[in-house]
Amino acid sequence: MNHSVTVSAPGKLLLFGDHAVVYGYPSVVTAVGKRLQVTIARADVSKPMIDAPQVKDTRFVEAALRAFGKKNAISMPRIKLATFSPFSGRYGFGSSSAVTVATIKALSIYFEKPITTRELFDMSYQVVVEIQGVGSGFDVAAASYGGTLYYKKGGVVLENIGGEAVKRMPLVVGYTGIKSNTVEIVNRVAINLKNEPGKGKRIMGSIGQLVEQTIEPLQTGDWARVGKLMDFNQEYLRDLGVSSEKLENLISAAKRAGAYGAKLSGAGGGDCMIAVVPAYKMQAVKDSITKASGEVLDVQTNAEGVKVEK
Ligand code: MEV
Repeated sequence: MNHSVTVSAPGKLLLFGDHAVVYGYPSVVTAVGKRLQVTIARADVSKPMIDAPQVKDTRFVEAALRAFGKKNAISMPRIKLATFSPFSGRYGFGSSSAVTVATIKALSIYFEKPITTRELFDMSYQVVVEIQGVGSGFDVAAASYGGTLYYKKGGVVLENIGGEAVKRMPLVVGYTGIKSNTVEIVNRVAINLKNEPGKGKRIMGSIGQLVEQTIEPLQTGDWARVGKLMDFNQEYLRDLGVSSEKLENLISAAKRAGAYGAKLSGAGGGDCMIAVVPAYKMQAVKDSITKASGEVLDVQTNAEGVKVEK
């Protein structure tokens, strides 16, 4: 048994396929360099001690401990677990999924019970669904595998996009300053879909088809095409009713300043927007987002998946 272990997992940004991914359509997600760390160490306590200030609540950590303990028939009273992250949960980078993946990976090392990346993904996805009730698991995939992934709900399809170009995607990220409530928005979309099934299916199907067209330009670095597809994706999300005034303002600001294309990323309502931008317009787009009262975030995409730090 190790004395102490620290593991980190990356956050995520959904590039394409938001919401439709919940209904089984494909999506493209990239792991981001905003990482969440989990340290597990021996402690003289009678039940696991959890110090997780970076996550909304500790239910994900607790459920991860339960799931790992059950699978490996281990009771683990004498440990303390602490999280650390330089990024705040408020940006919507997926701190719940990152903490779940990092916790299970750290436990596997601490208790010397090797786990494959697929097993890590599957166990973490079950934990997130148990606690959150809804979700496609794209965030769990990004935290486990890293890179930029073509992904379908539950990991039925989970492939790295591949190619060198995607590693250098010229992406600008703007935060609206508003925390969006994913579960509430996903549930609202589900109600709308029941009320207007024809419209809902049409939009979801169109997003699914659009996602298929993004793979090649992402692989070859055809950013003008990627941007155009972001614009189309945003139109569908707007029709779905999940955009907001603030998101639209930041998206317009990016476009005005020369972005190839822009869209919201994630559930909508708030959180972040993303834009693909020609290199020579980078600064102009950032300035324009800031002027529209957005917060430009410095985000590295295509980040490495879960890893042992020490
Ligand atoms: C939320 O970040 C993205 C959604 O597609 C939900 C999910 O896929 O879990 C709206």
